[in-house]
Amino acid sequence: MSDIYKNPKYYDIAFSWRDIPLETDVFEESMRRYSRIPVRHVFEPACGNSPHMGEFIKRGYKYTGIDKSRAMLDYARKKTGPGFCAELICADISGFAIKNKADFAYIMLGSLYIKSEEELVSHFDSVSGALKKGGLYFLDWCVQFDCPDGKIQSWKKRSGNCRVKATYSCEIINKISQTIGETLRLDVTEGVKQKTFVNHSVKKAIYPQEFLNFMAGRRDFEFIGWWNNWNLEEPLTGSEKIVRPIIIIRKI
Ligand SMILES: C[S@@+](CC[C@H](N)C(=O)[O-])C[C@H]1O[C@@H](n2cnc3c(N)ncnc32)[C@H](O)[C@@H]1O
Repeated sequence: MSDIYKNPKYYDIAFSWRDIPLETDVFEESMRRYSRIPVRHVFEPACGNSPHMGEFIKRGYKYTGIDKSRAMLDYARKKTGPGFCAELICADISGFAIKNKADFAYIMLGSLYIKSEEELVSHFDSVSGALKKGGLYFLDWCVQFDCPDGKIQSWKKRSGNCRVKATYSCEIINKISQTIGETLRLDVTEGVKQKTFVNHSVKKAIYPQEFLNFMAGRRDFEFIGWWNNWNLEEPLTGSEKIVRPIIIIRKI
């Protein structure tokens, strides 16, 4: 079975349930409320196919994305054109540098793929180096508010003659190192052809209190808040059903 991130077209269809303009509105609302600097340049670690890039460019921002998958970056690059203010770089999120500091950073769909405490520190050191003081780092579903073990979700999307059934599952690998294994499987029917693509990733789970302590221990970031369901009017209390939580921190 082939890797999903070597076949971006099907990933793109599977995750096309997102409302990109609406999510970009939420990014902009976060900037208005919490950024201490004007935002002209946005940066996305683990950008993959860069789903928000086009919307940001349309709204006048410069975009930089990094990802370790060349196929995903090539796919994103095909969306760019002459005059497109975008830079797409092949790099690992656990340690990187970008040339020009950004004013706003965001990471989507729990893509904080770090396997250890050292990599976690190195990731935030790298983001810190990539972001101007007063700028925000917006994290989509990167902290485990619910027990990840045994989590399973499935959905279907369609584009033209291509139907994609996506299944996400998660299990704990080690309770002390807090490593979890995530599997994303895409069952594709394209015309008469059927194909399956899979990606297995291992990452360190980060739990809410651990995240707060981690932030409190850093001199370069401050915790601003966390909210449910991409809604800045819904701060998390811990007693609600948590869906797509977002977190905002700010570079000091
Ligand atoms: C769930 S996709 C997110 C793609 C895109 N940001 C989005 O919103 O759909 C995760 C991406 O993370 C990338 N990735 C996984 N581990 C990585 C790492 N250690 N460094 C850089 N990119 C990584 C994968 O190649 C993939 O493109």
